Amino acid sequence: MKFTIATSTSAFAACVLASGFEPDDFNVTKALVDNGFDVTGIPGLANLAERSSSSACSLACAALRFSFGNGTVLSEGSAGYDSFTGDYWAAQQAVVNPFCVFKPSSASQVSTVVLLSRLTQCPFAVKGGGHAAFAGGSSIEGGITIALEKFTEKTLSADKKIASVGSGNRWADVYPWIEQYGLEVIGGRISSVGVSGLTLGGGISHYANAHGWACDNIESFEVVTASGIIVEASATQSPDLYWALRGGGNNFGIVTKFNMRTFVQGEMWGGQRAHTEDQWDKVYEAYYNYAVNAEKDTKQAQIVSFALQAGMKIAAEDLEYSEPTPWPAVFDDWKAIPAIIDQTAIANMSTLANQLGAGAPDGVQETYWDRTFKVDRDIFKAFIEIFFEMVPAIQDAAGILPVLSFQAITVPAMEKMQQNGGNALGLDPSDGPIFICNLAILWTDVADNARIMSFSNSLYERLVEEAAKKDLNHDYIYMNYASPYQDVIASYGAANKQRLKSISGEYDPTGVFQVLQPGYFKLEGAPYGAFPV
Ligand SMILES: Cc1cc2nc3c(=O)[nH]c(=O)nc-3n(C[C@H](O)[C@H](O)[C@H](O)COP(=O)(O)OP(=O)(O)OC[C@H]3O[C@@H](n4cnc5c(N)ncnc54)[C@H](O)[C@@H]3O)c2cc1C
Ligand SMILES: *[C@@H]1O[C@H](CO)[C@@H](O)[C@H](O)[C@H]1NC(C)=O
Ligand SMILES: *[C@@H]1O[C@H](CO)[C@@H](O)[C@H](O)[C@H]1NC(C)=O
Ligand SMILES: *[C@@H]1O[C@H](CO)[C@@H](O)[C@H](O)[C@H]1NC(C)=O
Repeated sequence: MKFTIATSTSAFAACVLASGFEPDDFNVTKALVDNGFDVTGIPGLANLAERSSSSACSLACAALRFSFGNGTVLSEGSAGYDSFTGDYWAAQQAVVNPFCVFKPSSASQVSTVVLLSRLTQCPFAVKGGGHAAFAGGSSIEGGITIALEKFTEKTLSADKKIASVGSGNRWADVYPWIEQYGLEVIGGRISSVGVSGLTLGGGISHYANAHGWACDNIESFEVVTASGIIVEASATQSPDLYWALRGGGNNFGIVTKFNMRTFVQGEMWGGQRAHTEDQWDKVYEAYYNYAVNAEKDTKQAQIVSFALQAGMKIAAEDLEYSEPTPWPAVFDDWKAIPAIIDQTAIANMSTLANQLGAGAPDGVQETYWDRTFKVDRDIFKAFIEIFFEMVPAIQDAAGILPVLSFQAITVPAMEKMQQNGGNALGLDPSDGPIFICNLAILWTDVADNARIMSFSNSLYERLVEEAAKKDLNHDYIYMNYASPYQDVIASYGAANKQRLKSISGEYDPTGVFQVLQPGYFKLEGAPYGAFPV
């Protein structure tokens, strides 16, 4: 059997748009038939109403296999299934067992799996680069994990202004390719991370000060909606959906292609440096000066992290400059601080992304948490003191590496977020600068999970309490670093949450991406709900 969607779906799209995106009497079976998917020819699907819900996923996976071939579906017990489920960044996701894994190779096949999930009520999850740091982020127990790895397209428009990047790519695939043309796109700082999840949650790059975040540099998204309709969302076409996809995560559809704006970029200068504790007062001061003065030179990017590494307290900054200029003047504060490690060098983005990735191994237990705060001269030191006061509670856990990082969201970056109608994050440049305080912990023994999550939650309670003393708390929580106990969408502000819900009501009136795709940060709350007390 062969399926095509192009003609029938666009006719279908034209007719439903006249009466709202999805009419009240939307017929899922008919939409599948319109996709060329022969519902009556698939055993069990035709008389679905009589079946029990427990067979839903068995039926949906069998239908996918029957229609698209054995090569597109992995079932439990096969070697391909085990190597797929084992291949997530966080070990917590690798123990999740979906009923089957489906690997579509076209937007039309993605459309069909969404409709099939609706018809059978078998739930699903979507896996891009698989770097979500908790179970169910991009995996689903007993459901269908839709793996986007076959969406490997990378093409450059004739005028070289737009790079079309399939949603199964990782930054390791994108940077070396685009750099051949002397161009770059806005993306992640580590090679192994997926294009998809990073961009849909925001996407912080070394170029954020000059260009904004990854989501702000997408010209258009090709997205499969809940009705199975493939939409091209841009500032001029479905602008509401375009806005929602800029930070709204997996709540609006499955993106199959990102059309990214390119810019001219050659080699740059950057890398990591590290310092012992006696230098930290100068480190806090240098970071503060960056956060409040970033507009002085928007070619710069800075992150600073504090870790307990093999019993030793260490601070490490990552400095980046988008010209191949060693030690530009904006880094004078840092240059004056003696370093025990200095890896700064002239390099291209792809090389820097490989180097930075070396410290983020796959396959161990992981947790990420974050909150944002207003920038203040004393807050970094206060936070680091609290962190190291609390860390002894977990420092005996096997293989542990706790890291607390600061990433300023500078005023120029916030200003660039407003381009083309703005994004959904709710950040106002007049409120800036703010900074993300991101906790990242890795460890190896599952037995330590509960106390490490509890430590993380308590740490943020202390940080919020500390910040409250000087009124430095900010509402925004960055989705891509949030823990499954944090309500990210609410942190975008009541008005933005309401707007996101009304856009979801338009494109997904029955809540397919809320109910049938339960994982990750939903419009109405955190993946796991509030942290249990
Ligand atoms: C080592 C490391 C380095 C990182 N570096 C950065 C960085 O430099 N900058 C930054 O901003 N963040 C960074 N992050 C955070 C990163 O952005 C998130 O982990 C992000 O979710 C990863 O995307 P992914 O596609 O790899 O993950 P996945 O787990 O595959 O996806 C994350 C979420 O997005 C959904 N999703 C994936 N693809 C699609 C799609 N096509 N359509 C709809 N929904 C989809 C998934 O269902 C899931 O809910 C880093 C994370 C790690 C672990
Ligand atoms: C839905 O569409 C199918 C296929 O076209 C049709 O057989 C069925 O009767 C329709 N159901 C309703 C309720 O209209
Ligand atoms: C697909 O797998 C089934 C069993 O799982 C087998 O009976 C069938 O022959 C396979 N089809 C192809 C085309 O390989
Ligand atoms: C980027 O740097 C790497 C390592 O030095 C090199 O192999 C590659 O050719 C460079 N790419 C470009 C486009 O210069």
